[in-house]
Amino acid sequence: MRIDILTILPNLLESPFQHSILKKAIENKVVEIHLHDIRTFSTSKQKSVDDYQYGGGAGMVMTCQPISDAIEKLQSERKYDEIIYLTPDGERYEQKTANRLSLATNLMMICGHYKGIDQRIRDLYVTKEISIGDYVLSGGELAAAVLADSIIRLIPGAISDETSALTDSFQDNLLSPPVYTRPPEFKGLKVPDVLLSGHAENIEKWRMEMAEKITMERRPDLLD
Ligand code: ADE
Repeated sequence: MRIDILTILPNLLESPFQHSILKKAIENKVVEIHLHDIRTFSTSKQKSVDDYQYGGGAGMVMTCQPISDAIEKLQSERKYDEIIYLTPDGERYEQKTANRLSLATNLMMICGHYKGIDQRIRDLYVTKEISIGDYVLSGGELAAAVLADSIIRLIPGAISDETSALTDSFQDNLLSPPVYTRPPEFKGLKVPDVLLSGHAENIEKWRMEMAEKITMERRPDLLD
């Protein structure tokens, strides 16, 4: 998979891809991440990327020209499965969207700032608008990093124990059961006996029961 991210703050997006699973996925050529500085596409003398909004009102709007040129350059080089705009008014991001996007070959993500991008960019190019939650971030970069992380971990080869991503919370509409490691007792709290029993069937049954119990208590909406 290849992910192209359009941003005015490419430096902000470097670190998330330099650690842990994402770093290894890039090293193992499971995924390529390309960061593009929107400002470098600006044809204005001052390399500006925003302007006042028509109709008045507080807050600047990201202008069409630099974003359009960046998108069209990338589109001339390859076909994109989705051109995603990160925005609080997009569809709410869920695991099932991550699963679907993990099957793509080429994804483009556009990070907005200020009041957002000119509506005409959305109308002309964007194929999917995604929000990572009902709160407003200063820009789309952290949302793009969230999307990229959740997608990349699902690509075969990104995680050494491939079954591990499949047992994540949400994969079967259930939250994950509790997990324990050594020691068997810590500050008076013991690891449940069943996990020490070595009885695979009972362990699986316990995990399923705990997942259902926790989901029922915390997120009953997932069971609907
Ligand atoms: N940009 C600003 N806030 C956002 C959000 N909640 N989700 C996605 N992109 C955003």
